Amino acid sequence: MADNTGVIAPTSPHRVEWHGWLDRWEAQQGSYMPDREERFDIIIDAVQALQGDAAHIVDLGAGPGSLARRLLDHMPGARVTAVDMDPVLLAIGRNALGDQGGRLAWLDADLRSEWGAAVEGAVDAAVSTTALHWLQPHALAGLYRHLAMVLSPGGVFVNGDRLSFPEASPLIAAAGREMRGLQETRHPAEPVGDGESWEEWWAAVAQDPGLAAEVAERARRHHDHPDHHHQADLAVHVGALRDAGFAEVETVWQHLTDRVLVAVR
Ligand SMILES: C[S@@+](CC[C@H](N)C(=O)[O-])C[C@H]1O[C@@H](n2cnc3c(N)ncnc32)[C@H](O)[C@@H]1O
Repeated sequence: MADNTGVIAPTSPHRVEWHGWLDRWEAQQGSYMPDREERFDIIIDAVQALQGDAAHIVDLGAGPGSLARRLLDHMPGARVTAVDMDPVLLAIGRNALGDQGGRLAWLDADLRSEWGAAVEGAVDAAVSTTALHWLQPHALAGLYRHLAMVLSPGGVFVNGDRLSFPEASPLIAAAGREMRGLQETRHPAEPVGDGESWEEWWAAVAQDPGLAAEVAERARRHHDHPDHHHQADLAVHVGALRDAGFAEVETVWQHLTDRVLVAVR
């Protein structure tokens, strides 16, 4: 149960190393994305350039707050609502980061629902990193329609994720996959921290008795990374944003399929 500071009252006698789990999360995610920090910087710069510092920002699929904490560090006038439905990641974020002096709120909600009803106050910007590829195209279109209603007029959406080349360009898409393989051979990712993989990180979490309740709740929700088939490509994202009423949609940063897409409502 969270109190009004967002911190979970301990229900287990086991001490959990919340900051340790957050650090291991950052290292695990960083091992997959050598450009992760640059991409975070670009997302923050885009929000600042379009909305200034005093914004209320929602972080969609926030996990344990990796982007939320960086936004708050760089934008002293901003506040963030971190939205996710993973009970383990929410518990780590809430307990490691707390509410940052009232600037960080946590919302346990499914992005496929009408989550905006539970967000307090007008929303100037929405951000997301490495999260929306979990949603199938029809769910993504629903999210963007909902987001267009949640965002204030002129509000922005900034999404950093791997968005594959559109189906209409199959030769370029195939070349892109080959180019990624060549890049990874030339510049193999340096292990960060313990160099844990996604699977190793989750297996370790499952061994922590202090996280047993959250791990059980995650299993009850059947919440896990989906397979990589039927993921929305760049054209699906751009089309769904335009259909939802976003007036401008552009890629502002790109490394092969890894992109930062900006949309203005
Ligand atoms: C790879 S993690 C990225 C977390 C964080 N944004 C980061 O960059 O470290 C993907 C996140 O998306 C969240 N997510 C996926 N589908 C979701 C949904 N339908 N509703 C809420 N969160 C979702 C997952 O729970 C997870 O926290």
